[in-house]
Amino acid sequence: MKKPRGILLAGNWKMNKSPRETAAFLKDVSDGARKNLPLELIHRPVRFVCFPPSVSLSEAQSHSGELALPIEFGAQNAHFEKSGAFTGEISGPMLQEMGVRWVLVGHSERRALFGETSESAGKRCLSLLQQGFNVMLCVGETRAEREGGKTAVVLHAQLQHGLPASPSGIEEFLDGRLVIAYEPVWAIGTGLTATPEQAEETHQVIRKWLWDRFGMEASARTPILYGGSVTPDTIQALLSCANIDGALVGGASIKVDSYLALVRGALTLAG
Ligand code: PGA
Repeated sequence: MKKPRGILLAGNWKMNKSPRETAAFLKDVSDGARKNLPLELIHRPVRFVCFPPSVSLSEAQSHSGELALPIEFGAQNAHFEKSGAFTGEISGPMLQEMGVRWVLVGHSERRALFGETSESAGKRCLSLLQQGFNVMLCVGETRAEREGGKTAVVLHAQLQHGLPASPSGIEEFLDGRLVIAYEPVWAIGTGLTATPEQAEETHQVIRKWLWDRFGMEASARTPILYGGSVTPDTIQALLSCANIDGALVGGASIKVDSYLALVRGALTLAG
């Protein structure tokens, strides 16, 4: 199936996998891919990114040259300042030193459990794009907001505050370094996945907003991923939708078998 923006399969490990567990997981994934995935599949246009906890990032990076799949690694968050008195935070230059090229910003768990806002996501997003990172900005509505018919309003506000407003930020979109992950809060870790129709409809809302704000080219080049209880059983139907360019997967991405099944699903569809 022709996907104009290719496919991006991202794994959010959340607070799982120590450095030792990271090494073991990557070895098992690599062995499994070598054994079970035909070469013809592996070379299809799918980009793989995993987000380990920050203490496991350098272990993950140290294996990237030897993996059977070209997995890139990213941080689950990073501050907008480059250094300073920000206890518990990590910065772009620290990640750059490790060779890390991706950062997740504004995940709903950061918003709900750690007080992050769309405004702070916006500062991180702009600073990290300017530092040269690929940034995956997460947006999504709660169940009450969806049931109240407020999905589009909520997403518009999250995008408005979460993305650079200045015209000088626009070129950052044009090389595809900005990725939007649509993750309905009611679907994360609940086993409830949005139907492909619900997800596609919402992705169209996001793409239209990007078009209105940044123009056709930026909108057309920006991958929009779906996240929220994606499994090997649901990934293919989701990725078959025209505006779903990949998936951000939590639970199903941290077990070797289900991760490999997700990989196979994405590769099969990228044909
Ligand atoms: P889930 O998590 O796949 O376990 O629902 C997705 C996410 O939070 O990114």
